[in-house]
Amino acid sequence: MRIRKKPWAEPELAACDFYIKNPAETRGNWSKVFEKQQPLHLELGCGKGSFVAQAALAYPHVNFIAVDIKSDMLGVGRRNIVKFFQEAGKTVDDVKNIALVAWNVEQIEKIISPEDKIERIYINFCNPWPRGKHKKRRLTFPLKLMKYREFLEEGGEIRFKTDDDELFEESLEYFEECGFRIDYITRDLHNSDFSKIYGENFMTEHERMFSQEGIKIKYCTAVKDVLPEKKDGEKEVSE
Ligand SMILES: C[S@@+](CC[C@H](N)C(=O)[O-])C[C@H]1O[C@@H](n2cnc3c(N)ncnc32)[C@H](O)[C@@H]1O
Repeated sequence: MRIRKKPWAEPELAACDFYIKNPAETRGNWSKVFEKQQPLHLELGCGKGSFVAQAALAYPHVNFIAVDIKSDMLGVGRRNIVKFFQEAGKTVDDVKNIALVAWNVEQIEKIISPEDKIERIYINFCNPWPRGKHKKRRLTFPLKLMKYREFLEEGGEIRFKTDDDELFEESLEYFEECGFRIDYITRDLHNSDFSKIYGENFMTEHERMFSQEGIKIKYCTAVKDVLPEKKDGEKEVSE
C-alpha cells in the first residue's frame, strides 16, 4: 500500500504510550510491555490499524502486537486506534492492550522469541508479490512460516485473509509444507458462516475496499501442527 509522507507521524508515535520505540530490546519480554499478563496475538502488516483497534476493543483479555514496516502507516494507525476507542466511549489512556511496532517482518525473529509464546498471528491482505523471484517476500512464504513456528505456541494459529486467488492457493501449499493444518477455509468470507462460528469479522481497510469492488475475500485458519517428515535430499522448506 502506498502512503504519502506524513511529517506528523513520527513525532506523534514518539509521544505515544503504546508505541514501542526499541522493539529488539523487548524480545522475549513482550508480556511485560502490557499492564496485564494475558495471551499475546500478533498482527503482521497492520496497515492503518482498524483491525487491531476493533480486535483490542472486543477482546480486552488479549494483548495485541501490531507490526508494520512503515512509520507513516503506523502514524495513521495510531490516530485510527484512538478514534475507535473514543467512538467506543473510551479515551487514549484506555489503550492498554495494543503495542504498535515499526519493524520489517523479514527480521521478525529479532524482536519476538519462543519465550514470547504467541497464541495467534493475523496476516491480513499482505502484498501478493506475484512474480517468481519476489514470492519469497510474501508474509506467508515458507521461510517466514518456519520463523513464526518458533514463537507460535503449540496449537497456536495463523488467521489469513486475502483478495488474491493465486496468493491464497499457494499459501495453502506453504501452510501444508510447514506443518500447519487448515481448520477453517472459505473462498467467499462475507457469504460464509465465519462470523457465526468465530463470533465476529473485523474488517480491515483493504477488506472494505476489495469487497466494495465485488472481489471475494479468501480466508483460512492454519493451526500449528507437526512438521511433515522430509524425504532424503529434500530441502527443509522452499527457498
Ligand atoms: C496491502 S497492505 C494491508 C494493510 C492491512 N492489513 C489491511 O488489510 O488493510 C500491506 C501492509 O503490510 C505492510 N508491509 C509490507 N511488507 C512488510 C514487511 N516486510 N514488514 C512489515 N510490514 C510490511 C505494508 O506497509 C502495508 O501496510
